[in-house]
Amino acid sequence: MSAKKTGVPERVRVELGERSYDILIGKGLLSQVVEYLRPLKLGKHGVIITDTNVEPLYAGAMCDALGKGGFAAEVLSVPAGEASKSLRQANRLFEKLPSHGLDRQSFVIALGGGVVGDLAGFVAASYLRGLALVQVPTSLLAQVDSSVGGKTGVNLPQGKNLVGAFYQPKLVLADIDTLGTLPERELRSGFAEVIKHGAIRDAEFFVWLEREFKRVLALDPKAVTHVVRRCCEIKAEVVSADERESGLRAILNLGHTVGHAMETLSDYSGLLHGEAISMGMCCGARLSIKRAGLSKADAQRLCDLIAASGLPTRLGKTFKLGELLEAARLDKKARDGKLRFVLLKRLGEAFVSDAVTDVDIREVVDVCR
Ligand SMILES: NC(=O)c1ccc[n+]([C@@H]2O[C@H](COP(=O)([O-])OP(=O)(O)OC[C@H]3O[C@@H](n4cnc5c(N)ncnc54)[C@H](O)[C@@H]3O)[C@@H](O)[C@H]2O)c1
Ligand SMILES: [Zn+2]
Repeated sequence: MSAKKTGVPERVRVELGERSYDILIGKGLLSQVVEYLRPLKLGKHGVIITDTNVEPLYAGAMCDALGKGGFAAEVLSVPAGEASKSLRQANRLFEKLPSHGLDRQSFVIALGGGVVGDLAGFVAASYLRGLALVQVPTSLLAQVDSSVGGKTGVNLPQGKNLVGAFYQPKLVLADIDTLGTLPERELRSGFAEVIKHGAIRDAEFFVWLEREFKRVLALDPKAVTHVVRRCCEIKAEVVSADERESGLRAILNLGHTVGHAMETLSDYSGLLHGEAISMGMCCGARLSIKRAGLSKADAQRLCDLIAASGLPTRLGKTFKLGELLEAARLDKKARDGKLRFVLLKRLGEAFVSDAVTDVDIREVVDVCR
């Protein structure tokens, strides 16, 4: 671990040939945005897409920093919350962009959490057939996961992320100082994706998390830097090997089959993404005991870490099993109507299985309610 106090950022490279890019992680990066933007040789004009919570906190400072460096960017804001990851908001942004005089050299900065990143990424991918995208993630979830890897998109009432595009950013700037204003519940939600990265790919990191999770949730800068860096390294490695999810990349979806179905059933309100996938990971752990030989002890460790981090492990009783199965089948991960689940052989080793039956799911959902 090598967090630096001085603003020299940690750097993780996502290797994707001509689409390769850097993720920079550190303190005070927002005010230094121009230093990192300049080498990208983009145009001088762009837009910052953000949301109504993040705008008053960080958009002004970012505009000032850009202005001082000879760049100009107007701010476009959407209402905070998952409901803004919609075609309606994408359309609103598309209709505003022509009056901003953008051209093919212009850039889009996604300043905010995963909702802003996914929505702004989709808009950047589509407008003028693609504008340069810079991700400036401000939530833990976005810093450890959603800003990296190029999945962009919006939800439909029928399901999560059903409309979208693979579109890699030119740069990701993760300023860990921004986490200081993140509501605690959102911080925990992001921590769910951190646990996921350890569970699918790095048993040693998982053990570190079991020991140090309190320091992370207390925003100790060294611990946070380590976590953001390690998750980005894991995600970069997986995405570099399988950019468009024809194989390995699907392991990043641990907990997401059930999690996305729970989000859809909740109409994208009331349940945070990280909370939904926490429940999904606990279901996944139980399915893994049955179908992948995961030891009961390891399954318990996963659920214990989730619970100790203040995240939900139980699905609750308010939904009907049939509805959950139906929502899960509409998820992009289903293939020929068959559900696909990420299972764990052991902590740190995951694979995708289509051997899980409706009976298995019924059993697990009953136990996890
Ligand atoms: N593209 C991907 O690969 C990928 C991966 C994982 C998750 N996701 C998506 O990410 C989304 C969830 O992201 P999220 O949890 O960041 O949600 P979010 O964008 O809604 O942010 C969470 C909340 O925190 C606020 N916020 C963000 N940064 C803040 C800050 N620094 N200070 C104060 N408030 C702040 C936001 O306004 C929002 O209210 C989901 O839609 C999920 O599907 C995408
Ligand atoms: Zn996720």
